[in-house]
Parts: sequence; C-alpha cells; structure tokens
Amino acid sequence: MSRQIIVGNWKMNGTRQDAQALVQALISGLPASAPDVVVCPPFTQLALVEPALAASPIGLGAQDCHKDVSGAHTGDISPLMLADLGVTHVILGHSERRQEHGELDETVREKAVAATKAGLTPIVCIGETEEQRESGEYEDVLGWQIKGSLPDGFAGIVAYEPIWAIGTGLAATTDQIAQTMSFLRAELVRQFGEAGKAIKILYGGSVNAGNAVSVLSIPEVAGALVGGASLKADAFLSIVSAASAA
Ligand code: PGA
Repeated sequence: MSRQIIVGNWKMNGTRQDAQALVQALISGLPASAPDVVVCPPFTQLALVEPALAASPIGLGAQDCHKDVSGAHTGDISPLMLADLGVTHVILGHSERRQEHGELDETVREKAVAATKAGLTPIVCIGETEEQRESGEYEDVLGWQIKGSLPDGFAGIVAYEPIWAIGTGLAATTDQIAQTMSFLRAELVRQFGEAGKAIKILYGGSVNAGNAVSVLSIPEVAGALVGGASLKADAFLSIVSAASAA
C-alpha cells in the first residue's frame, strides 16, 4: 500500500485558542513515521496556525473557495487568497455545502479548476444519500457526480463520503467501502482513461480511532477525510498512526 493521506476537516468549530492548542498537540504527537497529514481549519484560523504548521510536516487546507480569483462576491474567499496564506489543499463540494449552500456539480467543477490554477490541490467530495444507497441507484449518482464535479485533466483527490455516514457514528462497512471504491476506480478510469488510475480516493464518514485500521486497509483507500474525530488530538493521531507512511 502506498503512502496515505489523512485530512482533518474541522468544519465550523473552535476558537483561535482551540485551534492553536489542537495544532500544537498534533505537531508534538505526530509519529516519526507519519503519512501525509493535512488539517482544514475554518477560514478565520488559517493565518493563525499557518506559521506553526509551515515549520512542521503537517499541511494546511481550507474547506471551500470561490471559483473566481477576485471580484464582487461578498463573503467569499478566493483560491488566490488561500494560496497567498500558505494553504496547499482545499475541500470542495462537501455534502454540507451542496445541501446548505445549494452547490451543484458544475459549481464544484469550476471551483476545482480555479483551485488548481492557484496551485492548490482540490479534494472533491462525492457521496450518495441513504435513499440512493438503499434504492441501489448510488452507483449512477456517484458516476454523475464524478462526471459533473471533476474537470478535464483533474489531478486532485476525490473523497468518497456517503452522506448517511457523515457525523452519524455509523461508518460504511468495509464491504460497502471496498465495493464502492472499486466501482469508483473503474468509473474514474472509464471517464479519465489512464490518468484515472492515479487519482487518489479517500474515504470519509465517521472515521474514528476504533475503525481507522480496518478502513485504511481496504484496497483503493488512499486515506481518510475525518470530521468529528479530527477535533480531538488523541483520536486524530490514532487515525494518523493507522495510516500507511510508506
Ligand atoms: P465525520 O465527517 O468524520 O464527522 O463523519 C466527515 C466529513 O464530513 O468530512
């Protein structure tokens, strides 16, 4: 298994003090032989934690960006602004943004193009609802999300996050993850040809210290996107330790 990547999605949590304490605990507890690790704090904490992270092996990510470099977009943050802060990764199309902000595949695709142009690595999220899983249409849904959300020549990361597994404490089973991962790989190759083989696919949805070893040993799982458990240094570091650093 090749070197994995563990991404912490802090979502809308914590004060600056919390962010600094968490980053310090992660840096001091990081195992000597660690996989790639990226944390994604809220926008307001990025500049604060950047110096400490820059001096460590842990990367800095953001949770969203706009599709334009600048302009009249009240309340938005551009990929250029993120790159300017030392951000290297950006989560795009998270299901919470798709649901709460009406983001469509097309919007996500435009953001992925803009992020890449700014030198950021986009982490594009896809995932089906519980009804889509139960009705069996989830493969169609995921295929369409790949087609709609990933631009031509996509060289970023895909995060497969079944919506029913996010924040519920009920991760998908290893069988469900393994089956869906091989479907996603086949779909990426079908849509992107040879380049589709190289796109990393993360699993996200209730990854925690207890299930990390089994989730991260599933073939095709190139790492994890971790929400709730990324807010606790001990839990996040256990997940990091469960990942391949080779
Ligand atoms: P969770 O969130 O780990 O709390 O389920 C994952 C995510 O939304 O990225």
